[in-house]
Amino acid sequence: MALRVAVIGSGPAGIYTAEALVKQSAEPVQVDVLERLPTPYGLVRYGVAPDHTSIKSIANYLRRVLELPEVRFLGGVTLGDHLSVEDLLGRYDAVVYCTGAMIDRKLGIPGEDLPGSVAATDFVNWYCGHPDVDPDRFTLDSSEVAVIGVGNVAVDVVRVLAKTSDELRSTDVPHDVLERLSESQVKAIHMVGRRGPEHAKFTLKELRELGELANADVCVRPEEAVVLGGDFPRQVQGNIKVLQSWSAREPVGRPRRLDVRFWLRPVEILGTERVEGLKLERTRLSEEGRVVGTGEFETLPVGMVLRSVGYQSVPLPGVPFSDRTMTVPNEAGRVRDREYVAGWLKRGPTGVIGTNKSDAAETVRTLLADLEGRERVDAGPIEALLAERDVRPVTYEEWLAIEAAEAELARTLGRGERVKLAGLEAMLRACRS
Ligand SMILES: Cc1cc2nc3c(=O)[nH]c(=O)nc-3n(C[C@H](O)[C@H](O)[C@H](O)COP(=O)(O)OP(=O)(O)OC[C@H]3O[C@@H](n4cnc5c(N)ncnc54)[C@H](O)[C@@H]3O)c2cc1C
Ligand SMILES: NC(=O)c1ccc[n+]([C@@H]2O[C@H](COP(=O)([O-])OP(=O)(O)OC[C@H]3O[C@@H](n4cnc5c(N)ncnc54)[C@H](OP(=O)(O)O)[C@@H]3O)[C@@H](O)[C@H]2O)c1
Repeated sequence: MALRVAVIGSGPAGIYTAEALVKQSAEPVQVDVLERLPTPYGLVRYGVAPDHTSIKSIANYLRRVLELPEVRFLGGVTLGDHLSVEDLLGRYDAVVYCTGAMIDRKLGIPGEDLPGSVAATDFVNWYCGHPDVDPDRFTLDSSEVAVIGVGNVAVDVVRVLAKTSDELRSTDVPHDVLERLSESQVKAIHMVGRRGPEHAKFTLKELRELGELANADVCVRPEEAVVLGGDFPRQVQGNIKVLQSWSAREPVGRPRRLDVRFWLRPVEILGTERVEGLKLERTRLSEEGRVVGTGEFETLPVGMVLRSVGYQSVPLPGVPFSDRTMTVPNEAGRVRDREYVAGWLKRGPTGVIGTNKSDAAETVRTLLADLEGRERVDAGPIEALLAERDVRPVTYEEWLAIEAAEAELARTLGRGERVKLAGLEAMLRACRS
């Protein structure tokens, strides 16, 4: 009898886990990929920026895994809501948790909860058309916006704010969101790093794209682009060179302006009813290498603050979780007997899509070694239990119907290859009509 494994979450980690499980030859394995949304691919669909179409095309690889005969996709099924860990262990030989990192890290400064102070997770979900966020959630009515953090997510957010809606027209951005973007009043974007150019987390290719924006001048202050010492990895040297070349540029009068700032940490988001400014303190590194304030302050007159300081996993009911690392404690992917973890939930929210492949492979090696020769769990299919609870999973074919409706919508609107359907109801209508 084939080993039966439930993979929870259909992002890269979940799908690479399914692939590693069924593509090895030691043991026949059947995998069910259970996903809370009706759609697969996790952050490839609802994170990767809409204008990064070549990265998004990784979905074509992931799709081939879901089409393998040993793999089934069951959408609209949430662990902790429709099913418990006990339910899963009663019906599968093993469970692999791959639920990623869904929420934002907090800054812990006054004013963080004011209207207009926004987590990048929310903003990204909005422009990616995630069903958790209403397409009308944001109106970009402030002329100045600050983006805190200098990682690749901050760069994505800045690019979406800086581009015109025409530049995004051929992407899959939901139509209502594109309209909100076309009404944007944003003129100045301040991207703020609490350390220097040599410490920024963005990668060179992504940084360079900011210098090629047709609609925005990019400015760096020469004094903030100065870097002492020189023995940096190639990527970092590349970043420094690009930033220093921008510090010598003069604005040429493009409609928007991007200021990339360094050595400033946010200390307070100002305002009474909503965000009216961002107070920053100049920083330096202490002898121990920690970021410390210098007592010199500056205020940016912004009406919106986008906090892009990293993602964070949430605990799954009944699954061990460390409040220190905000991950599921594991040894080479093993959590407890017959329970495993992979992806961002296992190692934290860092690394590119491909990083999850080797990560999943490690978990699968552990799982197969643990279960070798073990007696199989022999209970009925999960659908019977879900049916008792009035849950009808979205099948892979139904997901294809959502995709087809998105392609049809793009044709009707005269936009690119596809336009995302906004909201759960629209997706369920498309797949069940
Ligand atoms: C905004 C953003 C942009 C990015 N852009 C790039 C990029 O351009 N290139 C690149 O290489 N990397 C990029 N990354 C990184 C990449 O997306 C991650 O490495 C990768 O998605 C992590 O995979 P994962 O499967 O662990 O998590 P996820 O992709 O988040 O997948 C988790 C899945 O689990 C599901 N789920 C959650 N809870 C439950 C539950 N209780 N029950 C059932 N299902 C559940 C979720 O709906 C989701 O589908 C980006 C990350 C972010 C945040
Ligand atoms: N195109 C791509 O390949 C792509 C696109 C998007 C995301 N990703 C990947 O997805 C992962 C997550 O990206 P991310 O941008 O969310 O995270 P990240 O790379 O960890 O960057 C987080 C940024 O927030 C800053 N920060 C953290 N806490 C802060 C605080 N309290 N105050 C001020 N600044 C603070 C960090 O500064 P410090 O360094 O000082 O802590 C850093 O600049 C990364 O591995 C990234 O490469 C890749």
